[in-house]
Amino acid sequence: MEKFATLTIGGQTMELPIVEGVEGDSAIDIRMLRQKTGFVTYDPGYGNTGSCKSTIAYMDGEKGILRYRGYDIEELAENSSFVETAYLVINGELPGREELNRTSVLLNDHSLVHEDMQNFYQNFPRASHPMGILSAMVNALRSFYPELITSDKDFEEVYVRLISKIRTMASISYKISRGHKVEYPRPDYTYCANFLNMMFNTPVKPYILRKEIVRALNVFWILHADHEQNCSTAVVRAVGSARTNIYASISAGISALWGDLHGGANQAVIQMLSDIHEKGASVEDIIRRAKDKSDPFRLMGFGHRVYKTYDPRAKIMKKNCHEVLARLKYKDPLLDIALKLEEVAVSDPYFVDHNLYPNVDFYSGIMLRAMGIPTNMFTVMFAIGRLPGWIAQWRENTQDPEQRLTRPRQVYSGCPRRPYVPIDGRGEGTW
Ligand code: SDX
Repeated sequence: MEKFATLTIGGQTMELPIVEGVEGDSAIDIRMLRQKTGFVTYDPGYGNTGSCKSTIAYMDGEKGILRYRGYDIEELAENSSFVETAYLVINGELPGREELNRTSVLLNDHSLVHEDMQNFYQNFPRASHPMGILSAMVNALRSFYPELITSDKDFEEVYVRLISKIRTMASISYKISRGHKVEYPRPDYTYCANFLNMMFNTPVKPYILRKEIVRALNVFWILHADHEQNCSTAVVRAVGSARTNIYASISAGISALWGDLHGGANQAVIQMLSDIHEKGASVEDIIRRAKDKSDPFRLMGFGHRVYKTYDPRAKIMKKNCHEVLARLKYKDPLLDIALKLEEVAVSDPYFVDHNLYPNVDFYSGIMLRAMGIPTNMFTVMFAIGRLPGWIAQWRENTQDPEQRLTRPRQVYSGCPRRPYVPIDGRGEGTW
């Protein structure tokens, strides 16, 4: 039986339908609100606004739960591969052996980047941030692959192309930034192994693959694959809602992810930890600054719009981080600082009262550093992991009959109506 919320405004009472989710999450359907009351809602940052119904990921911020298509993140991180999880996120079901083999063949077939695109890299300043390059390159794919998506088969070709090429694109920007020869993908390597080889193999120093590192990279990308309506996913949906092609929509998502408050936090965490290590800032000083309202500084890698407890991904990432450093016999003073920061913060009343705990970005950078990934590519690593989620959310949005062009309303707080007075009448000088 349909449930309703009752809203009374200025003596007028109206019933608003309740939309119920599978996990007991509910929403008030306000689609008729303005038409019936003249009011819109006010919710900067949309912290209390549901933009869609989605079947892809589910989060419970109070209990620290994250599931992709009903599967707990802990089980996927423990047992799945990134390619298998990407298939699940995009297609809604885990692939069988046949689908997995087919996807692997397609990923291989689409792993090269058009040689003409490689020229684009040469014209970026050497110090360009790889997120800006990646966003431009993904957008440029539309010029090379202008075909429209008119069937599921078309969609499969497009998504496999994106997932396969994004890691090649990322590794090319790294190689060129170092003045090294570009390393091509290999048909005999798995998705993650191929990326590591394209990044670090050189003619004079062959990259030795280690299964633990390949496994850690699979887990890293599994943890990032989707996360409901986060900032960058909301951007991908909004751009796609205008019937913009998927490449430009994803490119916009990459740009949104770049920000320090979002995907750029993993790079900002390392810069924060390095400041403590190299500039002698104390953990206590960092905590004090994070609590000081007059200081714009925030404890990077802490806090979350949805999780009001420990980010379940951060727990797995912390374990992954310890394992990778142990296997590589890599001692990183930044890890000791991060552990100390966490210890102090999680027992500090400010952080407890504000429900601020480590998020996925707090430990991820330390692990990436140990793997040899340069700091300015940490958010690129996040983008590669999040790509399946962006693709799935874009497709769900374009196929949802309830979805429309994204176009929020506002509350106007500017000047009331006023007459135009030509410049002379305003007593000022002439042009
Ligand atoms: C990601 O949405 C997603 O799912 C994102 C993501 C994904 O997978 O897509 O999980 C990835 O972006 C993780 C978050 C990475 N960002 C950071 O680590 C940057 C540091 N964190 C914060 O800036 C902050 O916690 C946000 C941006 C993540 C969330 O902030 P909100 O929900 O907008 O909360 P807010 O800024 O309104 O802060 C609420 C209060 C404020 O204090 P009061 O004014 O209420 O007293 O909490 C304080 C804030 O000052 N606060 C912090 C803090 N985060 C929030 N204080 C110090 N340090 C922090 N990190």
